[in-house]
Order: sequence, then C-alpha cells, then structure tokens
Amino acid sequence: MIAFLDLAADFSEVEADARRRIDTVLAKQQFVLGAQTAELETRVREMSGAPAALACSSGSDALYLALVALGIGPGDAVAVPGFTFFASAGAVARAGAQPVFCDIDPASFVAGGEQFEAAIGREFEGCAGQLRHRRSGARLRALMPVHLYGRAAPMAQLAQVAGARRLAIIEDAAQAIGATIDGRWVGRFGSVGCFSFYPTKNLGGAGDGGMLLTDDAATAARLQRLRVHGASASDPYLHREVGINARMGELQAAVLNAKLGHLAVWTERRRWVAARYLERLAPPARAGALILPQVAAESQQVWHQFAVRVAERRDEVAARMEADGVAVRVFYPRPLHLQPCFAELGYQTGDLPGCERAAQQVLCLPIYPSLRADDVDRVCESLIAALAG
Ligand SMILES: Cc1ncc(COP(=O)(O)O)c(C=O)c1O
Repeated sequence: MIAFLDLAADFSEVEADARRRIDTVLAKQQFVLGAQTAELETRVREMSGAPAALACSSGSDALYLALVALGIGPGDAVAVPGFTFFASAGAVARAGAQPVFCDIDPASFVAGGEQFEAAIGREFEGCAGQLRHRRSGARLRALMPVHLYGRAAPMAQLAQVAGARRLAIIEDAAQAIGATIDGRWVGRFGSVGCFSFYPTKNLGGAGDGGMLLTDDAATAARLQRLRVHGASASDPYLHREVGINARMGELQAAVLNAKLGHLAVWTERRRWVAARYLERLAPPARAGALILPQVAAESQQVWHQFAVRVAERRDEVAARMEADGVAVRVFYPRPLHLQPCFAELGYQTGDLPGCERAAQQVLCLPIYPSLRADDVDRVCESLIAALAG
C-alpha cells in the first residue's frame, strides 16, 4: 500500500526535539502565545524576510483577520479563484463581504492577471472612481490570489491589476510555505500573506495553526490586536474594536518549531519526487493519456500537491489505483462558484469553465518527503495501468 501521506515518517525525524519542547511547555504551563510561539514568529520572520510574522489559530482565521485588518467587510467584494479550498472564499463571506469568483489558468491551476481582469470586467462597473458590483452594488476592495498546490500565482501581473484599481492583495499562501518568486517568499507580495499549519500542509502542526506576514507596521499592529479580541497592546481590557480569539497554542508552536528546521530539506525532497514523477510519466503524457503539472519557470514551487489531469473518467482511474493499493485524492471535486452556500450569488455551470474542468479532471498523487524512488515508480505503474483500463 502506498499511503497518500506519511506524517509519522516526518515526525520521526523531529520527534526528540518536539518531545523536549513539549515537555518545556508542560513544565511552564503557559499554553498560549508564549515562548514557543515567539520563537516560531522570530524564525519565520527571519526565513521570510518579512518585518512582521504573527502566529494564529489557523489559515482560515489568518485570511479572516487579514480581511478585517484591511477594513474589508459588509458592502465590499473580494475576487477569489473558483478553484481552491473552501476557506479562501469562506473567509470573505465570514467577514461579511461578497466573494466574486474568477477562473483559473488551466496550465497552472492558479488564477493570474487575465482571469482576475476577466472577472472584474464581467461583474463590476466603474462608479465615482470605485468598482461596484453590477447586481449587488458591493465595492471591489481586494484580490485574493491562491498559491494552489504550492505554486506561486503570478504576483507581478496581479500587482498591476490591483495597482491600477487601488485594490489590496491578500495572498492565500496556505499551501505554499517557502515557495518563492525571484527569491522572495510568496505571502510577501500583497498587503498580507496567510499560511496554514494544518497537519497535512508542507509545515504541519499537531492540530490547527496559521501565520500572517505583512510588511506594514500599522497592519501588523492591528492584526496583533484582532488576534486577541481586539484588545489593545498596552491594556488587555480595552477594546476599541471587536476581534476574535485566534491565538496560537504553545504545544502547536513547539511541534512547528521542531519541524521548521527541516522544511528546506523536506521541500527539496518534494521537488525530487515531483521531478521523478515528471520523468516517469512523460511517456503516457506524450501519448495524450494525461496532462502533467508544469514546472513553473518564473517561481520556485514547493509541490504541496502533485496534480495531474485525467481528461476522461478520472473517478474510475482513481478507483482503480485505490484498488491497486495506491492512495490518491481529488482536490477539489466541486468548484466554489457552484457550492450551494453561494447559490444566491447566481453562478451557473459553465460560468468558469477552467475551474469546472479542473474539478472534473484533477487527480493528486502521493507526494511527501519520505516517499522513496520505488514508491514513486509503483505509483506511476499503477496510474499507467489504471489509464489503460
Ligand atoms: C488554499 C487554502 N486556503 C486556506 C486554508 C485554510 O487553512 P486552515 O485549514 O489552517 O484553516 C487551506 C487549508 O486547509 C488551504 O488549502
């Protein structure tokens, strides 16, 4: 059996340090926002080069806090790709704003300038220097690019789209810790970058966790307050605005600190697995049986997922591989513009063909640091046999 993930193997590499750190937390009995969290924030700040790194309760809460910190709420709209994990759009709705969905680039699975431009042109009209949604009147305030599967969205293009319209950019970098464009971490191109430490992420905790990066001191200060119910830094019982409880737990931070030093090596191993998949699967791809993910030319991706496209009968191929003892996953089988909770926004099947096709065709293969060469080869054999039917 080839598992889809092997978190135990990753943990075994850091177990001694993690247990030592957990013992320290237990001895101190300080369980939230303590020394482990401070160390994690310092190290992420140093690694990313961001002046401010704030640990929080989850990637979902990071996105929500970013929106609130930028003053986005009821009456506002935020453009989000229709093909991503639910949390990207969920955070917008939770902030009281309207998600507006854009298509993705079929070659990279991420939304770029062209796709955001198309959504803006289709759904908004200019009104007194602002962009207002044609039906709801909501004002477009921000773009939320998603670095899906660990591949950077084209941030230079997006900066142009946003800059021309004075829109903020909130980066959903939940799947892309350590991915870079010209050496700069994703999450550092927009106003705020949001990361997830969900256990299956490239840097995963022992539960939920997240991180916010920003270059702006005022935004950092506001995020810091919003993370603790809006309490002011100097007086914890003075609330000038309402925040949420988005504190990071010390036990999480302890595990993340133990793993953080391994992230670079683990990312290299993921790159090695991806390269082997690309080599082994090149013949069936040339024969037209599947489409392989691209290696990005303009960025250094971190391969959170290795996502192939199977043009026909993807679910049958997945079922055959599972029956053959190879675990595969479909991330994501239903695009967000067609989710029942967003029905009132009025999207129809056919509105975002790139997202809908990706949802029908995508198939994610196992990719993780401990996967060995013979495991990769076994996955490839299984996929090739499943495609042949
Ligand atoms: C693209 C994307 N955005 C947001 C999130 C939300 O992160 P979390 O699960 O930590 O809340 C995730 C991960 O789950 C994700 O994959």
